[in-house]
Amino acid sequence: MSGAVDRVQAPFGTREVVVSGTEDAGPYRVFSCLDAAGPEPTSGQFYMLASSERWGGGSEERPYLPRAISVLAAGDRQLSFVLEVVGPGTERLAELEEGDALRLLGPLGNGFTAPPPGVRAILCGGGIGVAPLALLQQELVAQGYEVTALLGFRDREHAAGAEFLEAAQVATDDGSVGHAGLVTELLLAELDRDASAVIYSCGPPQMLEAVRAISVDRGVPAQLALEAPMACGYGACYGCVVKCADGSLRRSCVDGPVVEAGELAADWLAVAS
Ligand SMILES: Cc1cc2nc3c(=O)[nH]c(=O)nc-3n(C[C@H](O)[C@H](O)[C@H](O)COP(=O)(O)OP(=O)(O)OC[C@H]3O[C@@H](n4cnc5c(N)ncnc54)[C@H](O)[C@@H]3O)c2cc1C
Ligand code: FES
Repeated sequence: MSGAVDRVQAPFGTREVVVSGTEDAGPYRVFSCLDAAGPEPTSGQFYMLASSERWGGGSEERPYLPRAISVLAAGDRQLSFVLEVVGPGTERLAELEEGDALRLLGPLGNGFTAPPPGVRAILCGGGIGVAPLALLQQELVAQGYEVTALLGFRDREHAAGAEFLEAAQVATDDGSVGHAGLVTELLLAELDRDASAVIYSCGPPQMLEAVRAISVDRGVPAQLALEAPMACGYGACYGCVVKCADGSLRRSCVDGPVVEAGELAADWLAVAS
């Protein structure tokens, strides 16, 4: 969360793009668009998305703010996103079909930083938190890093999210696929095997807190991609503040969403917005 972070900057204002493809992946919805005017994002960055049609307005539609969604894949001006429908915004975005128009602002926030040369990366994700880790795995493998991917899901259906990464070890809450238990148990086993690593994590807040505590306890650096609720995405509303170890409150949309585990206050989750 340090101030001077190299990042890909978003062009000013929102732009309209066209959905170029959609696909179901188990319970998740994937969609792509051609973003000819935008710079290529890095893993961990996100976009504020809203459909151009039927996004609030009118007497029967709830007025929406755009929703923060991590970039899943990027290249050749194509962006892909993956959604888990949890409310009206993700429901509307999941209805988009090829040819539909989408309003987009981004890429926003900072991204992940690669490990020191030769140091292994351990990716530890949960649920829809697989999205930024999928792009991170591609980037790190292309740079020659050893990458270990550990992913946790609630059940077999949601474990379909493991397909966004290569060769992931899976844990499920109900034991229907892979390790029966928490993905952080896989993380502890990996650190017991070889603790010379950098951990990268994204997922539910409770999982991120468990990873933060492991990172501090074991002295292994970790970069956490926070998914604090966001209203604007560019620093104006202070709706996304998190508490840091030095007592400051920082906006996770511009000072994050990727933060060093050691920079978060021990009670960050209790006071998260
Ligand atoms: C940087 C960032 C990246 C994200 N990337 C993705 C992504 O790639 N794919 C994806 O599907 N979602 C992603 N999200 C989460 C998504 O933006 C929120 O869940 C959003 O609120 C969904 O809008 P909605 O209208 O569907 O549901 P809402 O009506 O906003 O929320 C539905 C339910 O989820 C709860 N909720 C909402 N936001 C959060 C949150 N951030 N953490 C915990 N609970 C929450 C609400 O309290 C409510 O119970 C990301 C969020 C952030 C901040
Ligand atoms: S979402 Fe508005 S300041 Fe971060």
